Amino acid sequence: MSIDYDPYSNAAMSDPHPIYKELRAEGCPHFVASRRAWALTRYDHLRTASLHNEWLDFTAGQTPSQLMLGEPSPHTFMTMNAPENRKWRGLLEPFYSAASVAQELPRITRLIEDEFAALRGCDSFDVYHDFANKVMCLNAGHNLGLDHEQAVQARALIDRMILNRVPDQVGASSDDSKQAAAELGGILHQHVARMRADPAAGGPHGRLLRDAEVDGVRLSDEDLLYYLFSLLVVGSETTPMAVAGTLYYLAANPEQKAQVLADPALLPAAFRETCRFDQPTNMLARRAAMDFELGGSQISKGDNLLFIYASANRDENRFADPDRYDLARENKGDMSFGVGAHFCLGAILAQAAGRIMLETICKAIDDYQVVEEECERAFGEHLNGFVRMVIRPRWKA
Ligand code: HEM
Repeated sequence: MSIDYDPYSNAAMSDPHPIYKELRAEGCPHFVASRRAWALTRYDHLRTASLHNEWLDFTAGQTPSQLMLGEPSPHTFMTMNAPENRKWRGLLEPFYSAASVAQELPRITRLIEDEFAALRGCDSFDVYHDFANKVMCLNAGHNLGLDHEQAVQARALIDRMILNRVPDQVGASSDDSKQAAAELGGILHQHVARMRADPAAGGPHGRLLRDAEVDGVRLSDEDLLYYLFSLLVVGSETTPMAVAGTLYYLAANPEQKAQVLADPALLPAAFRETCRFDQPTNMLARRAAMDFELGGSQISKGDNLLFIYASANRDENRFADPDRYDLARENKGDMSFGVGAHFCLGAILAQAAGRIMLETICKAIDDYQVVEEECERAFGEHLNGFVRMVIRPRWKA
């Protein structure tokens, strides 16, 4: 019997994993006629499609709602096909290499320690909002030349646009989401004007984008604003979700929590297992650039393609006992950061910052408990994970 799957149903937006399991069992990509979209839920289908660049058109957007609801799609390298994607993305890649991230680590570590200092000794704190989300948005703000207050303000607006969704809300359709988007646009518009007027403004990444030319073309004010917007958003939610999730799933598995607290060198493996188990980027999307066949389904040019990473990471044909959180798992080839031309630009940064944030917490405490009634998960088709995760630490003497 065919499954009645709509990525915007309340069931799919609150807990999609039971549905993904059924979809994977179908064995082929699943067509959602009402959205003209193919749901790719199996690991091998997602991987094959990701590596066939010629099948994929990114220009209509990268998030599910850009493709299925026609929400505005910022024009950045994320919504470019090759070779443009390579050229514009290539400008920023040197900032995100292993060597560059290693060079930035002393600054990032100081930022993390400064933010954590305010929490030391308190009865409880929200790992997401009080700590990890702040760290990641302040870091993105540094890269783009926003001061502390502007970065915090931008972050609050992005939360209102993306995270504060309620049941039955489809896409960023609430009045509050739209109002927040308009306010953020205003702030970034002023920032672009400052960057144009002052050669020193814009931070290292912002200045590079402002001054770059690709094939003799410079970014317009509007494009620059889109870049700032996108770079503030990416990574500032996903990494904190993975940090919060790591502490949550360790607490749910007390033996693994005890191992990690005794040996913080296990934290990178725990962070990575959290990304697999509770993939923050539930799904991203593209459009079919041509007719092709995948896993027995005939896909037509113009159809939407849902790349459901959260499902691929729980594919029973790839991962043994996939619904079990296991930090000792060998996660070779997990899909957490994507595959192919649009592989996550910030994968090294996310894992390094995640590790340091978790180490900072774990080294300061003997133990912790999760305050279950004060945890909250993202609701929606795009992102998965904890957006509020309160712990009660037992601080070291
Ligand atoms: C645990 C944290 C993170 C996860 C799980 C994650 C996951 C992903 C995934 C799955 C993609 C592929 C998107 C697609 O298929 O269309 C992606 C793309 C991207 N990520 Fe991340 N990400 C994380 C953190 C970060 C951070 C910290 C940054 C900071 C800059 C970042 C920047 C990007 C960018 C710019 C892209 C788009 C690349 C392109 O289209 O060429 N991500 N990420």
